[in-house]
Amino acid sequence: MRRIAVLTSGGDSPGMNAAIRAVVRYGIEKGFTIYGVERGFEGLIDGAFIQMDRRSVGDILQRGGTILKTARSERFKTPEGKVRAAQNLETFQIETLIVIGGEGSMNGALELSKEHGIKVICIPGTIDNDLAYTDTTIGFDTAVNTVLDAITRIRDTSSAHDRTTIIEVMGRQSGDIALYSALAGGAEYVLVPEVEADFNDLCRKIIEGKNNRRQHSVIIKAEGYPMDSSELTTQLAQRTGKDIRLVVLSYLQRGGSPSFHDRMLATECGVKAVTLAEEEISGKAIGTVGGNIVAFDLEDALKIEPVFNQELYDNIGILSK
Ligand code: F6P
Repeated sequence: MRRIAVLTSGGDSPGMNAAIRAVVRYGIEKGFTIYGVERGFEGLIDGAFIQMDRRSVGDILQRGGTILKTARSERFKTPEGKVRAAQNLETFQIETLIVIGGEGSMNGALELSKEHGIKVICIPGTIDNDLAYTDTTIGFDTAVNTVLDAITRIRDTSSAHDRTTIIEVMGRQSGDIALYSALAGGAEYVLVPEVEADFNDLCRKIIEGKNNRRQHSVIIKAEGYPMDSSELTTQLAQRTGKDIRLVVLSYLQRGGSPSFHDRMLATECGVKAVTLAEEEISGKAIGTVGGNIVAFDLEDALKIEPVFNQELYDNIGILSK
C-alpha cells in the first residue's frame, strides 16, 4: 500500500485544514494510505503519526487553525533531529511527505529531501504572503479580510472621537498584509519593513488631514517596521498634538474561517500534491501563477526574492489625500 504523510508547520493559517482535507480525501480516492503527523516537524521527530480516514477530516473545511496542530521545531534544525525524522518516515514506510507551511517549513522539507532522500511536496500555508514563487499563500486573503474588518470598525470610533489610530498588523519580514489592507481599507499611511518611511512626512500627513477637515486618520504598521509601535504612538502624539491610539491586532489575524479564495487555493493545492505523489514526483512547491496551479522546483522556488510592490505603496499616499 502506498503511503503519504501530511503535516502543518510554522504559524497556522486559515485554510490549512482545507488543504489537509483535500490531501486525505483525494489521497484515499487514489489508493494511498494517509498519515497525519501532529505538531509539524516536532511530531515527525517524535513519531506522532496518525492514520487518517475520510471522516477524520469531516467538518474542518470551514475551520481556521489546523487539526494536526503545528509548531516551530528547534530540534528539527539539528542533524540528530532530522535523522530521527527521516528514520520515522522510513519506519512508517512513507513514500511522500506533504508539508503545509511557510518559508521556514519549506526549507526544512528541502533539507530532508537533500540530506535524507525523502520525497517531499510543499503547500504554501502562511498569512504573510512572503513566498515569491506563488501569487498568494493560503491564509493571506483571510488575514487581510480580518484586518479590513478591523479597520472599518476602528474607523467608526476613531472618526467619532477625531482620533488617529495606528493599527499594527502581522508581518515580521513582509509588509504584504499591511500594504494590501492599507490600500483596500483606505488607510492614510502605511509603514512596512521594505520601505524606510519619512517621519516628518507622516506627521505632515496627519496635520494636513486635520487642516483639510479630515479629523481622523488610520495608519497601518507592519510589526516588522523597525520602530516599536508604542514608541511611534508617543512620538507622533508629541509632534502632531493629535490624540493617537494604538491597536495591535496580533493573533486575531491568524484565526477565523478561511475565505472563499483560501479554501479554493488550499483545496487545489491539496489535490495537486496528491497528483504529484501519484506520479512519484518530488521536490516541488505548489502555488499559483495568474490563478493557475503550478508546481515549481522547491529549491528554485525558495531562491526567488520577493519583489515589493512600490506602485501599490505609492498609490496609498495618492488615494488617501
Ligand atoms: O508566520 C506567520 C506569523 O503570523 C507572522 O506574521 C508573525 O510574525 C509570526 O507568525 C508570529 O509567530 P508566533 O506564532 O511564533 O508568535
